[in-house]
Amino acid sequence: MMVQWGLFVCLSAVCISAAAAGKVVTADSLFAPRREVGIVTSSQVDEASGLAASRRHPNVLYTHNDHGGKPDVIVLNATTGKRLATWTIRGVQNEDWEDLAMVPCPDNGWCLLIGDIGDQGTNTIYRIKEPDVIRTETLNVDASLKYSWNEDESESLLTDPQGEMYLVTKVDAGQRPKVYNVPKIGWGSPNPVRLSNGVTLPITSVKNGPLGGDISPDGSEILVKTREAVYYWRKQDGDTYENTMRQTPQSLPYTREPQGEAICWSPSGNGYYTLSEGLDQPLYFYARL
Ligand SMILES: *[C@@H]1O[C@H](CO)[C@@H](O)[C@H](O)[C@H]1NC(C)=O
Repeated sequence: MMVQWGLFVCLSAVCISAAAAGKVVTADSLFAPRREVGIVTSSQVDEASGLAASRRHPNVLYTHNDHGGKPDVIVLNATTGKRLATWTIRGVQNEDWEDLAMVPCPDNGWCLLIGDIGDQGTNTIYRIKEPDVIRTETLNVDASLKYSWNEDESESLLTDPQGEMYLVTKVDAGQRPKVYNVPKIGWGSPNPVRLSNGVTLPITSVKNGPLGGDISPDGSEILVKTREAVYYWRKQDGDTYENTMRQTPQSLPYTREPQGEAICWSPSGNGYYTLSEGLDQPLYFYARL
């Protein structure tokens, strides 16, 4: 009886992972294995949770710490991993920041979005204008967007070149996450915008997730990261992100990190960076082949 029970558990575990991995094709031919860019030695980065690539400044990445951290964005040199500056965001708390993304600002230039979107977060997205000069300073929030939904949490904020926003839900091991559009009409409104019509993604994880994601700067390629995998969709012209992401993704090269959450495309789309939580973690780059 004990043996049968153990076998059943083992088989159901296999079934759970096979349900996700069954049709997923590993696309080793698209991107190279990881290359270590440098070690993020700054003691200010101990729980890197989100990553975004500056559009204003070449070879500059933004990161931040997970919930309970300071309301700071840490600016990194993308070719060395060294800290260049720290921005403190005025008047807000890091209740549970989980991801960063870039959008065009409404007037001109580029804006960084900070997602206070985790289970302890305030369901708020903050928009910050990228400054012209990189230095340690305090920056104002340009606008906020509050949302409400029937989901627990997200760690993945995705944005396209037109500033459309999507959140992927974080779900328990073996469950399938959903992607929701975040209506832009919510910017600057005191009332939360309601998120509805989430679309289920055909992926699961052996741990709760997904933990991060990013849309390529040209808007055509989507990454979603779980503890053990990086999933990839290519969107056809005229198709929607929701419809693209309901299809079976490919699985890209990814070597599991101790506590890897953060992922972003390079600004040219020639590869993607990953960074794990923890002190003195390597910044990795997976180059397009
Ligand atoms: C990054 O570091 C390299 C090597 O020290 C340096 O040449 C480059 O100017 C730095 N980039 C930025 C954006 O500071």
